[in-house]
Amino acid sequence: MDRPISTEELEDDKFDASLRPQILNDFIGQKHLKDNLSIFIQAAKGRKEPLDHVLFTGPPGLGKTTLSQIIAKELGVGFRSTSGPVITKAGDLAAILTNLQPHDVLFIDEIHRLTPSVEEILYPAMEDFKLDILIGEGPSARTITIDLPPFTLVGATTRAGLITRPLRERFGIPLQLNFYEIDELTSIVNRMANLISLPIQESGAVEVAKRSRGTPRIAKRLTKRLRDFMDIYHQGSAVDAMKASVGMDRLGVDQNGLDAMDRKYLSQIAEFYSGGPVGIETISASLAEQRDVVEDVIEPYLMQQGYIQRSPRGRILSGKAYEFLGLTPPDILALGIKPL
Ligand code: ADE
Repeated sequence: MDRPISTEELEDDKFDASLRPQILNDFIGQKHLKDNLSIFIQAAKGRKEPLDHVLFTGPPGLGKTTLSQIIAKELGVGFRSTSGPVITKAGDLAAILTNLQPHDVLFIDEIHRLTPSVEEILYPAMEDFKLDILIGEGPSARTITIDLPPFTLVGATTRAGLITRPLRERFGIPLQLNFYEIDELTSIVNRMANLISLPIQESGAVEVAKRSRGTPRIAKRLTKRLRDFMDIYHQGSAVDAMKASVGMDRLGVDQNGLDAMDRKYLSQIAEFYSGGPVGIETISASLAEQRDVVEDVIEPYLMQQGYIQRSPRGRILSGKAYEFLGLTPPDILALGIKPL
């Protein structure tokens, strides 16, 4: 399903690479993470060593790729980028690793999707900057070891639990990205509006921020769509709260930042499964979505906002979700308490 608030990276977003912050100081939010990262970068630079390997975890669209590029810029080194599903053979990874310059940053997105044979090559590469290559087949096969330039691996994954323990343990700097606060998203909307020459009032920026699902990628995309509405209907005037609100409504994003898919998720659990608990496989099938998408994209925000809870037996709707849907929670009915 195409969502106006999809967190999937689209070509359009990649095209916007020039609009991404280039240095840590221009990156808004994630203060605690940035403060620590800044120290680690300065210290590594001071010692003329490569930065220790970094693992970013967090839902899509929170800035994992952007931060990786910033790390390379701040270190003053080269940036190479690839992703787990692209590296199908051990040789693919060997080719990338042997072409690195000393201290380069190698970014592997979706690192949890590396195959076990590729992952095994990565262990000695990360630990000792060595590559063990098997030459030949059968009894005459032998392993040769090649020295690699010291480098920094930056891995990104949507959930820490998805990557194997031996891989996870080889990252000296694990960093978790969290959903952004409204004031941070407001600054991101203002920054984006400025970059695309869209006049916007503070109230307009706050309205967009509130509907961005805690996610900069969504905030930026909504800001761009809003510019389209403004170009056609209100050329020359600034976005205020009202205009932003009408625009967001037209995009199907409600006042809580939830879209049709979120509403479908919540209403199905309420109506088909009596509020839960319902297992992830069941809810994914009933939404006709892949389990990964439900777990990585739809649920984290609904959980963070308190619409759903996870239990060992499955997902359960909270009172807040019932209130949002305009329905009466079943436990209140069972207790015979009249809802207000
Ligand atoms: N673009 C994407 N994420 C951002 C952030 N956190 N700060 C500024 N610009 C961004």
